[in-house]
Amino acid sequence: MTNSQQVLPAASRLFDSATLGGLELPNRLVMAPLTRNRVGADGVPGQLMAVHYAQRATAGLIIAEGTAPSAVGQAYPNIPGIHTAEQIAGWRRVTDAVRAGADGRGGGAAMFLQLEHGGRVGHPDTSGHVPLAPSAVRLPEQLHTPGGLRDAAVPRAMTAQDIRSALADFRAAARNAVEAGFAGVEVHAANGFLPHQFLAKGTNLRTDEWGGPVENRIRFTVEAVRAVAEAVGRERVGVRISPGVTVNSIEEGDTEEIYPALLAALAEIDPVYLHILYADQERDRFQEHRKAWPGTLIANQMLSREQFAADGGKSVAERLLAEGADLVSLGRGFVANPDFVERLRVDAPLNEIRPEFLMHVQGAEGYNDYPVLARASV
Ligand SMILES: Cc1cc2nc3c(=O)[nH]c(=O)nc-3n(C[C@H](O)[C@H](O)[C@H](O)COP(=O)(O)O)c2cc1C
Repeated sequence: MTNSQQVLPAASRLFDSATLGGLELPNRLVMAPLTRNRVGADGVPGQLMAVHYAQRATAGLIIAEGTAPSAVGQAYPNIPGIHTAEQIAGWRRVTDAVRAGADGRGGGAAMFLQLEHGGRVGHPDTSGHVPLAPSAVRLPEQLHTPGGLRDAAVPRAMTAQDIRSALADFRAAARNAVEAGFAGVEVHAANGFLPHQFLAKGTNLRTDEWGGPVENRIRFTVEAVRAVAEAVGRERVGVRISPGVTVNSIEEGDTEEIYPALLAALAEIDPVYLHILYADQERDRFQEHRKAWPGTLIANQMLSREQFAADGGKSVAERLLAEGADLVSLGRGFVANPDFVERLRVDAPLNEIRPEFLMHVQGAEGYNDYPVLARASV
């Protein structure tokens, strides 16, 4: 082999620009949705959140944290909503701030909002409503409520009318998000929330058209994506799934049947991206999903402690891109590093997360006070 034929290490693709539908992204790094419980009981995003996201506006795409599409869909205390006029106005301040960027010189990041309907992951003390779910199967866990940790309540099995209302709520929430300045929304069908509860055998015991065989269990997710696409356009809707992940005690039962059927049905609607969360043991399904998904694929691998400590997930991200992902999302790296993209670019050390400020606390501490790299003097 002559010198000119030598195989050089692949150049980093993480920092290449990309397109997402009609959007230009400055790089391929996506800020994964991260719930931080930094709003009041009214679910209205304030200045604190505007600053937080603006600090992280150098990502290619920001998918803002799980947000309630309706009052009954609120999973946790102090998470934002997108179903009141005040919430829309609050989010407008956030999207404006991201557009302006941390130093007012323009942010760069495109921004989607994650629509998270909790289903059985919700509590009357938090939302003021008995949670609604495909079937009356209780989450066998405790949940944060305004009064502390409480056993989850038995949800009420949704009627056909409840299902139509939930789909209408997704549609309205998507319109509200666009009004608030988002480029689009992500339907959260991962991590054991309502759409995932319909997908999974363990939580969906229905015998009507919304339960039973796989083609019925995928119906709610497909119809939610269709409803949002009809409301705001298919280029403004993404979908997040987590095949085989057991968060929130979800038991899919037939993972191998669910996802091929779901991907085929979603591909017909052609949302602008599919965002897949992998736990370690599911990683080998990536190639299968890549082959099955004709559109933009965002991959997110739950990083092990070692992978996170090594380089914040950079090498995992590079590998996913090399294997065919179009964009890669990372979560925890963005928590403590407002300039995460720049730090990965120059292989700078990362700030440590202060876990006591991660969730269920208020205020700027451990949220907006993580330092950026010192600027090189010129
Ligand atoms: C504090 C925290 C909050 C999270 N909130 C959400 C959320 O609102 N919606 C969601 O889909 N995933 C959520 N996740 C999961 C992340 O989006 C991501 O999938 C996970 O952290 C794995 O990526 P990482 O290893 O780079 O952190 C959350 C994770 C953490 C640590």
